[in-house]
Amino acid sequence: MQKGLAGLKRTHYCGEVSKNDVGGTVTLMGWAARNRDLGGVIFIDLRDRAGIVQIVFNEQSGADVFQLAESVRGEYVIGAEGVVRERAPETVNANIKTGEIEVVVSRLVIYSKAETPPFYIEEGIDTNEQVRLKYRYLDLRRPDMQRNMILRHKACKIARDYFDSHGFLEIETPMLTKSTPEGARDYLVPSRVHHGAFYALPQSPQQYKQLLMLSGMDRYFQIARCFRDEDLRADRQPEFTQIDLEMSFVETDDVIAVNEGMLAEMFEKTLGLKIPLPFPRLSYQEAMERFGSDKPDTRFGLELIQMTDVVAGCGFKVFADVAASGGSVRAINVKGAADKLSRRDLDALVDFVKIYRAKGLAWFVVTEGEIKSPVTKFLTEDETNAILKRANAEIGDVVLFVADKDAIVFDALGALRSELARRLDLIDSSKFNFLWVTEFPLLEYDDAEKRYTAKHHPFTAPMDEDLGYLDTDPLKARAKAYDVILNGCELGGGSIRIYDGDLQTKLFTLLGFTQEAARERFGHLLDAFKYGTPPHGGMAYGLDRLIMLLTGSDSIRDVMAFPKVQTASEVMTNAPDAVDPKQLMELGIKIADVSL
Ligand code: AMO
Ligand code: AMP
Repeated sequence: MQKGLAGLKRTHYCGEVSKNDVGGTVTLMGWAARNRDLGGVIFIDLRDRAGIVQIVFNEQSGADVFQLAESVRGEYVIGAEGVVRERAPETVNANIKTGEIEVVVSRLVIYSKAETPPFYIEEGIDTNEQVRLKYRYLDLRRPDMQRNMILRHKACKIARDYFDSHGFLEIETPMLTKSTPEGARDYLVPSRVHHGAFYALPQSPQQYKQLLMLSGMDRYFQIARCFRDEDLRADRQPEFTQIDLEMSFVETDDVIAVNEGMLAEMFEKTLGLKIPLPFPRLSYQEAMERFGSDKPDTRFGLELIQMTDVVAGCGFKVFADVAASGGSVRAINVKGAADKLSRRDLDALVDFVKIYRAKGLAWFVVTEGEIKSPVTKFLTEDETNAILKRANAEIGDVVLFVADKDAIVFDALGALRSELARRLDLIDSSKFNFLWVTEFPLLEYDDAEKRYTAKHHPFTAPMDEDLGYLDTDPLKARAKAYDVILNGCELGGGSIRIYDGDLQTKLFTLLGFTQEAARERFGHLLDAFKYGTPPHGGMAYGLDRLIMLLTGSDSIRDVMAFPKVQTASEVMTNAPDAVDPKQLMELGIKIADVSL
């Protein structure tokens, strides 16, 4: 039966006992990570958040303590009091911080016993993730997961302190809200008081933070939970955290400067890395043309090469037709890859680009004396040479081409570029390449819905010089929007906002909202704009992604305490789950059969 701490009081974390404590008495509490019973001596590795220390039971421990120690099994929770001593030189363990000392135990309490865990509680296990998530509380006991959680905590603290020292106020915004359109589906919460009405969980605090600027709060930030019902991937969860901020009386450069300062401080204080400032900036157009992506990974080359003008009117019909019909032909020169990419590899790459809707992938393998290619037979020698010249191709190079609409060419070659870098091991993983992508298009055209949609969100301001396009050619208008990219991952993004009610109404109209619909959904914002709105802008980081990159994890799941799986469920608690019919009744909800 439990009796509190049974008279012991912890003096040290296991991982923090050091040579300075030799000769002193310490009291430790933690989990038995490993036991070795050598007959007359028992060694136990005792583990807590700070690390592991070896505790020893021998004749000095006394018979009762020794006997109790014999019953300790893996993951038992114990308390131990004893004297710290130096280990004999031949038994020093250089792999752990406390490897030079051990604790000879004179008092031992077993607080709780433990069944054998379903996997080893140690670093770097290769256990199936479903099992790890089902027993997440055990998974989080492992040192690598503990390190991730500790780093996450530190990063939040650094962000908080930084924004505080730059005049930002931390203000909470509601979780039960009206829907904010960020482009994903909302999670809805039914109202008991208003039958048939629903709150939406926030996809971001966007509208509230803009309203706070209107209120004169000047600078706001929040570590905010966001909810988006979208398809999950390694870097997407339905419930995730943003470091969210907004500033009044600013333009793009002001927001960027404050945020570069924050990121530099965070990387210096967590990883000891000095990130050179300012970060490079690329316009959206340049990012697409050079890297085929609006979140380019610049740790390797393989930049895209424009070929449309070179192949216009050439003998290979696919290229000539695409060039004539306003599409583009672009290439990647994979330097020196002729002996690394077999015919089979090239065929696989053709299949790879098809995932991105490309119709094919033409290639030149440049070897001594000949060019191996399925398309040179359609080209004159001059045409082939012009292509080689533009690609800066030399013997040993492989040039890969996609011809299509720009959007497909960029998508396919952008993905191919990353795939090739991965396969050919071209990525220097010690690099942290930050950059800003700016001047995004304001709008996109949704072919299925036959209307414009906002590329970032409907509150983003158009660039001043492009305002005229809103009336003439809306797709040409660029936005005062910016994303911060690290190693090909979109860490965060934001924009300067519309602060003029008429311009906001115009945007809503362009996005296909009738006046009534705009009032219905955004009336509060449009009304607010009538009472004195400061020019303002801001951004939000995906905190989980930031920590994923800081810790070198492959997935944001590894830096979230209790993440969800692909199907958006939580395997440990089995959420979402059925509820009591009474609860549904109170909410006035009846489950319809829509499986037909
Ligand atoms: P945006 O929608 O670009 O902007 O989101 C900002 C950042 O949040 C992260 N993020 C996610 N992380 C994990 N799982 C998800 N499902 C997920 N979705 C987004 C990304 C992204 O860059 N209100 C605006 C910001 C602003 O304009 O100030 C917004 O939410 O890292
Ligand atoms: P085909 O004429 O379809 O046999 O194609 C000849 C070569 O051109 C093959 O290697 C195809 O993969 C490639 N190809 C076909 N369509 C395209 C395209 N749109 N862009 C680039 N290469 C293509």
